[in-house]
Amino acid sequence: MRVDVVSIFPAYLDALDLSLPGKARRSGLLDLRVHDLRDWTHDRHRTVDDAPYGGGAGMVMRPEPWGEALDALATDDAVLVVPTPAGVPFTQIHARALAAEEHLVVACGRYEGIDQRVLDHAATRVRVLEVSLGDYVLNGGEVAALAVLEAVVRLLPGFMGNPDSLLEESHESGLLEYPVYTRPPSWRGLEVPEVLLGGDHGAIERWRHTQSLARTAARRPDLLPPSALLAPATVTDAQ
Ligand code: ADE
Repeated sequence: MRVDVVSIFPAYLDALDLSLPGKARRSGLLDLRVHDLRDWTHDRHRTVDDAPYGGGAGMVMRPEPWGEALDALATDDAVLVVPTPAGVPFTQIHARALAAEEHLVVACGRYEGIDQRVLDHAATRVRVLEVSLGDYVLNGGEVAALAVLEAVVRLLPGFMGNPDSLLEESHESGLLEYPVYTRPPSWRGLEVPEVLLGGDHGAIERWRHTQSLARTAARRPDLLPPSALLAPATVTDAQ
């Protein structure tokens, strides 16, 4: 997969050299290039922002450098990903869909955002996905881009040492993941649940599913499938 990230703070993306995304880059699975938006400015001050039309606080990113950057980077087959608090909530479904793409371009905005015409123009040529990480405001798209790219890259075929571990985590099944334990069996007076020590794989699977349902009911009832809502006794059992 090829990924181009455009930012006025390219150093934010250095973290992608660490850990697993770094390994994916070195193995050739991921061709990641980070670009400085100011390379597409033409004035002495390398200006990227200006006051908003209509007034209001803050600055808006000017369309010209973004237009040139996207002309240079966003081939017609690319998906343009724009992290913004005004986007659709980013989910595992998006991560999975993006992991199947050949080319992503990630546009990291700052200030009050990017002039809307940049996105409207890009949308005449490429698929544009404006995504929000959650109902809070970051200072810019960089931290959100790191999160989106980590969620996507770990799903690339061949990325995970053990692909089974992808199947059992929160959001892959639609539910939150069950609690996990490792050695020692007793720690500070707290015991690992008996069922996990017994080796009865059917019982373990049922216990984990019940725990997942209980956690999801307690923390994220919005994720529960209607079938789980019809069987509240199962959820209560696990609490
Ligand atoms: N940029 C600023 N805030 C953001 C958020 N919540 N999600 C994605 N991008 C953002």
